[in-house]
Amino acid sequence: SNPSILILPGDGIGPEVMTQVTRIIDWYGNKRDLKFDVSTDLVGGAAYDAHGVPLHDDTMAKAMNVDAVLLGAVGSPKYDDLDFSVKPERGLLRLRKEMDLFSNLRPAQCFDALADFSSLKKELVAGLDIMIVRELTSGVYFGEPRGIFNEGNERVGINTQRYTESEIERVARSAFELAMVRSKKLCSMEKANVMESGILWREVVTRVHADYPEVELSHMYADNGAMQLVRAPKQFDVIVTDNLFGDILSDCAAMLTGSLGMLPSASLGAPMDNGRPRAMYEPVHGSAPDITGQAKANPIACILSFAMALRYSFNEGAEATRLETAIEAVLAEGVRTADLLGEEGVTPVTTSGMGDAILAALDAS
Ligand code: NAI
Ligand code: MG
Repeated sequence: SNPSILILPGDGIGPEVMTQVTRIIDWYGNKRDLKFDVSTDLVGGAAYDAHGVPLHDDTMAKAMNVDAVLLGAVGSPKYDDLDFSVKPERGLLRLRKEMDLFSNLRPAQCFDALADFSSLKKELVAGLDIMIVRELTSGVYFGEPRGIFNEGNERVGINTQRYTESEIERVARSAFELAMVRSKKLCSMEKANVMESGILWREVVTRVHADYPEVELSHMYADNGAMQLVRAPKQFDVIVTDNLFGDILSDCAAMLTGSLGMLPSASLGAPMDNGRPRAMYEPVHGSAPDITGQAKANPIACILSFAMALRYSFNEGAEATRLETAIEAVLAEGVRTADLLGEEGVTPVTTSGMGDAILAALDAS
């Protein structure tokens, strides 16, 4: 049977950008005979409006039974006054938690045509293509004890950085697997100089390395890593790091490449019975209420998220490259959505106009 995809468009510009992804999925079915069983369901405010909850149990069950979930975005000011337990974001959190998506992949990829958008000098970022793997379900955001406690005559705020060997091992394995399908180079970042969790992190990553001898592994203190990312980002390929450092380093790396409308992501969990990792793919951006319904949204972040699904869930790396190359070609021709405008005198295309251009480039590929 065909590989299966559950599409959850969500709220705001989510459905607008996801419509373009659906056209591309259809293109692969018709032109490359790469067929998927696609189903669509509600998440976020859209699910709340229909069912009174931001993710229905049936939808959760479907997500657990497909090869990959593609999510648009959730949230809208319309739901600001809702109780926290039914807020749109809770739908997304439930998916991440129940699918146990512990490995968050954030690429920082710079298309040459957009190198002027970077906060850095053009030559530092042109052709940049790195991947940050952030541990997503443990570490200081979850460790106990946590809280604000009384201590003597003042209060103390406490969080605990805590990693078990198995938590480090599974995210390390996920990063080595990625390195194997990329350029076989992995840099692990922690602060083993001052943190116990960092010492254990380095030890476990080194141990897992024995199973991936082809990968060139290096270790770097995370503060130096932040500096190196900005000084000379092209020295990296895959970076693996914990939840806190990954949060900061991935936001930093994102700004190396420009617009929010260009940034995809993937969240992976443990391998399923068929060997594929449990996986959800989504753009980094949110539901963009300020431009919803105006046909202005850039669909590229969501389309690149599907390219990641092709590469990391469906073992179709060559087809993922075909899609990325088509996007590169369209950008090189000067096609721009409004968020990518820099040059004078360029008229922006609409969301579907960008979809048309990418489909035309795929036809020409
Ligand atoms: P946002 O990412 O939705 O928008 C930030 C700015 O970037 C806006 O000016 C928006 O117009 C622009 N933008 C974002 N994506 C774009 C695209 N594809 N093309 C062109 N321009 C784009 O973040 P914001 O405004 O902080 O949050 C809006 C809503 O989205 C909130 O309800 C928030 O909770 C939710 N949100 C959801 C996320 C998710 O579903 N993963 C992530 C971040 C925010
Ligand atoms: Mg962040």
